[in-house]
Amino acid sequence: MTVHIANLEEAKARVKDLLATHERVILGIVGAPGAGKSTLAQLLAEAFSEGVPGSGDAPKDHFAAWVPMDGYHLADVELRRLNRLQRKGAIDTFDARGYRSLLRRIHEGEDGVIYAPMFERDLEQPLAGAIPVFPWTRFVVTEGNYLLDEADAWKDVRAAMTEVWYVDVDDDLRRERLVERHIRFGKEPEQARKWVMEVDEVNARRIAACRDRADATVSLPPLDL
Ligand SMILES: Nc1ncnc2c1ncn2[C@@H]1O[C@H](COP(=O)(O)OP(=O)(O)OP(=O)(O)O)[C@@H](O)[C@H]1O
Ligand SMILES: [Mg+2]
Repeated sequence: MTVHIANLEEAKARVKDLLATHERVILGIVGAPGAGKSTLAQLLAEAFSEGVPGSGDAPKDHFAAWVPMDGYHLADVELRRLNRLQRKGAIDTFDARGYRSLLRRIHEGEDGVIYAPMFERDLEQPLAGAIPVFPWTRFVVTEGNYLLDEADAWKDVRAAMTEVWYVDVDDDLRRERLVERHIRFGKEPEQARKWVMEVDEVNARRIAACRDRADATVSLPPLDL
């Protein structure tokens, strides 16, 4: 892998190039917990929300959509049944086949609106039917932990995506941001640190092992978010 994307401008330029040669671009963003996948996906979806910036074309609604893999988190009720609630975020706590079929439907250009689930951070639960992908949506950005994993149904999701980028970030900074985010969404500081070290880090190692399969690496400078 040789391509490195060093900032948001380079990321947008690469999406623009992909859009010039593909009817629909499905960009995958992968990386360890707290790497900044959702942040980058949101910034890109916003940048292309009304079309290709600077193209001179008339603005179009829903040109871009942000479809998180996190929408395929199993709900707490099911995680409890499986006795996996304490490992939420591990690869087997997602509905991999559900995500695979959504990506395939988007890739194949199924007729009509395709609804994707979102992940509601306050509830920490998936919410069905929250994100519409329209037939004219040309840029779909999807992001999550296991886009390049080769277990079970995960191994098939790569084929539905145009490219997959791996978010590189300093591990200490990433863990720090992750602890902060867990606290912001209601965990006690001690509980947040314990979760990051015992749950998120196990997943981080599995994800890092897939880095070589990415088409590009990407890192963003610190942003004032
Ligand atoms: N470039 C950046 N500059 C400053 N803060 C950032 C940057 N990227 C991400 N963050 C912050 O780091 C935290 C984690 O980012 P984000 O939620 O985008 O990561 P993620 O990879 O989607 O995490 P998860 O795997 O848990 O879904 C957030 O609080 C976000 O605001
Ligand atoms: Mg995220």
